[in-house]
Amino acid sequence: PRMISAGLHGLITEKVRDVPDFPEPGVLFRDITPLLADGTAFSAVVGHLADVFGGEVDVVAGIEARGFLLAAPLAAVLGVGVVAVRKVGKLPPPTLRTAYDLEYGSAEIEVSPAGLTPGARVVLIDDVLATGGTAAAACRLLEEAGTKVTGIGFLIELLELGGRDRLPDRPMHALVSY
Ligand code: PRP
Ligand code: MG
Repeated sequence: PRMISAGLHGLITEKVRDVPDFPEPGVLFRDITPLLADGTAFSAVVGHLADVFGGEVDVVAGIEARGFLLAAPLAAVLGVGVVAVRKVGKLPPPTLRTAYDLEYGSAEIEVSPAGLTPGARVVLIDDVLATGGTAAAACRLLEEAGTKVTGIGFLIELLELGGRDRLPDRPMHALVSY
């Protein structure tokens, strides 16, 4: 795993806002709004992801909604396309769909195979790795479409939720962990 510089680590942690008891009591929410709103920090994060994942990738996939904010600029920097992994009901048919578990209940995500070429090397991006359910489901969809997920990137990994263990075994990188 590529090490992050102390400077970039500090820039990120300084701009992540801790919000206690959101979205429910007892949860400490890591809000990346101030980080994304800061041009220096935002471009440094995208640049770091480009260093880590550049070279052997054909397309970047981003997970709705906050993953889009990182996946699209990363794809543009790398000079490759971007594909949206969406919450259910937003994409026109045909789509591939899969369900995943939430803390309470379940949800579904979809991808449009029209954006994916079989055999393509995909880097999957999201803002936060929590339980890993969302990213694992996105990997299943991308592989169902015949692509290869060659890397998975997050801005933040929440270590105590153990999401890393739910992801398929392949290069995974998070810039900061809590
Ligand atoms: C959050 C976060 C990740 C996901 C991580 O998204 O942005 O996508 O949860 O959780 P997991 O690892 O336990 O699956 P959320 O579904 O809240 O929606 P948003 O990105 O649209 O705000
Ligand atoms: Mg999300």
